[in-house]
Amino acid sequence: MGLHLGDIAPDFEIDTTKGKISFHEWLGDSWGFFFSHPADFTPVCTTEMGKTAKLAGEFAARNTKPLGLSTDTVDEHNKWITDINDTQGCSLEFPIVADPDHKVAQLYDMIHPGESDTAAVRTVFIIDPAKKIRLTLTYPMQVGRNFDEILRVIDALQLGDKHKIATPADWQKGQKVIIPPSISNEEAEKIFPQGWDEQRSYLRLTEIK
Ligand code: BEZ
Repeated sequence: MGLHLGDIAPDFEIDTTKGKISFHEWLGDSWGFFFSHPADFTPVCTTEMGKTAKLAGEFAARNTKPLGLSTDTVDEHNKWITDINDTQGCSLEFPIVADPDHKVAQLYDMIHPGESDTAAVRTVFIIDPAKKIRLTLTYPMQVGRNFDEILRVIDALQLGDKHKIATPADWQKGQKVIIPPSISNEEAEKIFPQGWDEQRSYLRLTEIK
């Protein structure tokens, strides 16, 4: 099944390194950063897991819970976590899904047979508190993800939801944002009393303090 932006993220019950979870219940009112890995005890994955652990404060500041997945067992994950903490200088506290039967990996289309019949590729799902899928990313096995980009997208989505704005290319927190074309100038005057820079009728930039 292909999952699309705006779909409700499929629910599942599964064993993790923090015990059994029911995905939607575990997410609660938080955003979710659900990301898959090819396998335990592999180098790129080890750095990604360590990076996620070190960014725990950044994810918490964005009300976002990380959840990892690889198609190995809880026992293997726990042994691997010892290595991750040792080599990456972190304390990994978020749960990692144990999916040796590929139940969740198949539900989320994380196994791409052209790459491997058993290992998940590096997929990312950002899920909002309504359980809607808001971002999907798929990276190949050989390329580690850019975590600055993951945090940036969460910031952009959350700011967009709060202020009805869109964000331009390479936007960073604090920079000008875009008033979407679906908002008329008359409506924009009420929502953005600070005004805007109108470069074209369809390209209006404003500041959110
Ligand atoms: C890795 O995590 O290092 C990795 C996993 C599968 C294929 C290539 C690299």
